[in-house]
Formats: sequence, structure tokens, C-alpha cells
Amino acid sequence: MEHMNKLNTIELFAGVGGFRVGLEKANPELFKVVWGNQWEPSKKAQDAFDCYASNFDEGIHSNEDITTVTDEAFKNLDAQIVVGGFPCQDYSVARSLSGEKGIQGKKGVLFWEIKRIVEATAPRYVLLENVDRLLKSPASQRGRDFAVMLATFRDLGYTVEWRVINAAEYGQAQRRRRVFIFATRNDTGFAKELESYESDDVLFDKGFFAPVFPVKREVIKNRRLHGVLPDDIVEISDTFSASFHNSGFMKDGEFFSIHTEPVFEKAVPLADILEPEETVDEKYYLSEAAVEKFKFLRGAKKIERTSAAGHKYIYSEGGMSEIDDLDKPGRTMLTSEGTTNRSSHVVEVNGRRRFLTPVECERLNGFPDNWTNTMSDRMRYFCMGNALVVGLIERMGQRIEQIEKKHTVEVPNQEKFFLEQP
Ligand SMILES: C[S@@+](CC[C@H](N)C(=O)[O-])C[C@H]1O[C@@H](n2cnc3c(N)ncnc32)[C@H](O)[C@@H]1O
Repeated sequence: MEHMNKLNTIELFAGVGGFRVGLEKANPELFKVVWGNQWEPSKKAQDAFDCYASNFDEGIHSNEDITTVTDEAFKNLDAQIVVGGFPCQDYSVARSLSGEKGIQGKKGVLFWEIKRIVEATAPRYVLLENVDRLLKSPASQRGRDFAVMLATFRDLGYTVEWRVINAAEYGQAQRRRRVFIFATRNDTGFAKELESYESDDVLFDKGFFAPVFPVKREVIKNRRLHGVLPDDIVEISDTFSASFHNSGFMKDGEFFSIHTEPVFEKAVPLADILEPEETVDEKYYLSEAAVEKFKFLRGAKKIERTSAAGHKYIYSEGGMSEIDDLDKPGRTMLTSEGTTNRSSHVVEVNGRRRFLTPVECERLNGFPDNWTNTMSDRMRYFCMGNALVVGLIERMGQRIEQIEKKHTVEVPNQEKFFLEQP
């Protein structure tokens, strides 16, 4: 390991640093975040950035709107990896009026910043995270946004693999389902290795995800999709639609997608991440009134409401149990965690009901205890609702390490210098 070359990493939309925590857990010698960017739009207080800067020393920490950072900033970073969790927005494009600039995406859509930075740095690998809805968006033209993204990577010269992963199914304490997207530059040893396999083999065994997130070797419900993206990205944006499944692979515009099911690993129950009751501050316990309020919020209901246009309609929602089951992993944490909201976890211990503490929320995502103690409780819950499950990134980091080991050769007498195998 001491001979492994460093992989300079750019972390975009860093939040409180979930990608970096996971990659450094995988191998702190291999992954070096040289540039991390986090900026909370239109807010004076930059709690997530302050937390990031107080937990990490090395590298440049940028607290700027990414859209205002010029390509100059990335020039001498020698970045080999770009990572980031970015919002699901509208990725439609139009032909630019001048005709010279080619295509134009909507203003403020952050995926285009990722594209710009990948173009400026030509990293070996790109690892992204998003809500799984991205595969289906928008509702009126299913799969368009994801196809635009795939075509963007195709045009940049990358092979892409994706997988929807529910953290609880791979030994983590939270039922959090997200799509992870791994892109590798077409001239890397790994991209070339993938070319030699059948698409099913990539998705079942040989690709980026399967070795560290094993799946059963069967196409579930025979859900399979194979196609070729139109060359013209504006045509994709205007007319293309597809039902992408939870696993897939794209090379030179040809995509294969199947529905896979995980080989389940033992789930971590909520009970395992609770703090000892005697250390939990009184402020996290629910008053009698709050207990009643939660019964209502979590109960089944049908309520008459009036729309903005004045129409009366019935709003209904199904019931959920009054308290969260301690024998199961937690539910998906949202940014509203810890507020009186039906999505907040409510646990009952020794006959008393309470919220999860901020430390317990950090544990649900696999962060070290008190990672976010630089900010208020409200912001700690908020940042954990935005963050990712670092144990998943740790495995992806281990997978990148395996790939690096397989595809680099040491040059004799030149310690710490590797070349890509021909
Ligand atoms: C989904 S969160 C990512 C959380 C992160 N993966 C973590 O583990 O904490 C997206 C982040 O992007 C940041 N963000 C939104 N717009 C931005 C912009 N224009 N420039 C830089 N960061 C931005 C948000 O403040 C938020 O923290």
C-alpha cells in the first residue's frame, strides 16, 4: 500500500464531507481531497462549510457558489477523481441561438457545473450520488434527464455504470435509497477491461458496483432494457424517453439496464445506534402534547382542503406506526428530521418517547460521533438529512483501490510512480 499513487480528488457539493469521510475511511493514503467546495445558496451562515473546514485540514476549502468558480481554479490540481452529490433538476437542453456554443442547459442547473469541471480536469473517475427519482425524471418524459446525463458523459469520453442502492440492504443502519453513478474515462485500463465482458457480466460480477455490492445473478421480473442514445443531445432532450432500471451500463451511447436484487446482508437495527439512555438530554424527550401531536401526524387521515384556485379536495394519507421499530434499520432521514413532522423518527425507550439525538443521526449515516457539533441542533439534523451514508462510499473507495491496483504497474526504481497499463 505504501507504494500506491495518490488519487487527487475534487469534492463538489461537499455538505459536511460525506464522500471525503467515506473515501478516507477506505484508504487515507490513496484518496487526497485537494479541492472541496460547499456553498449554501443565499445564506449568510455557512454551517455545512464551517463544519467541513473544521474537520479537515488538507486541501483547498472553497466556500463559493460553484457557478462563480472559474476553470483556472482546477488547473494545477492534477485531479484524478471528481465526486459529488448534486440536486435532481431539469436537465433539458436547447440548441444555443448563436449556434457556436452548441447546446445550452437551463441556468442554475448544477449538473452542468459537474460537466464543466470534468471537462476542465479530465479525471480518471467520476462518482456521483442523487435521489433515485433521477432515473425516471421528468414524469412527463420518463428517463429524459438521465439520458441527457449519459449522453453528456458519452460525449466527454466516459463509460458509465449506475446502481440504485438501499443502504440498509448492505449492512448500514438506514433505509436510504439513492442512485450512484460511476464514470470512468474510456482510455483507462478499467474501461478497457469492461469492454471485454458481456453486459450482464458487468452488472452481475465484473463492473464497478457488483464486487462490493453483490446482487443475485438473475434479471428480476425479466426487466431488461437495451438501446442506443441518439447522437444529438437536443434530440434526446426533446423526444427521448426510457424506463431505466436500477442497474445499468453505458458505453459509446449504447446502454444496458436490468433490474437487480441485492444479496442481502444482515441489517443493522436502530437499537444498535442509540446512545445510552442516561446520557440523552431531557430536551429530546416528547412532552405529552407532542406525543399526542405525533399520534395525529403519523395516523391515517382524510382532511378536506382548499386549493389555491378555491377547489375543495380531500387530502388523505395512510397511517404509520406511532413509533419507529427498534429492530429495523432507520427510515430515510430528511432535512426536517428532529422537528414535529411525521417523517421524523420517534423512538420509545424504557416507556418514554423521544426524537433521535443529533449524534444518533450522525450514526445513521455512519459519520463519527459529534461530526457536526460546530452548529445548532436544528442545522445538525438538516445537514444529516442532506448527507449520504458514508459506509457505502467507503466500499466504493475500496473498489476504486482494487481497480487501481489491477490497472497500474510500478515503474522500477521510481517509488510512488505508476503508469496505466497498456
Ligand atoms: C445533497 S447535499 C450534499 C451533501 C454531502 N454529500 C454530504 O455528505 O454532506 C448538496 C450540497 O450542495 C450545496 N450547494 C447547493 N448549491 C450550491 C452551489 N451553487 N455551489 C456550491 N454548493 C452548492 C448545498 O448547500 C448542499 O450542502
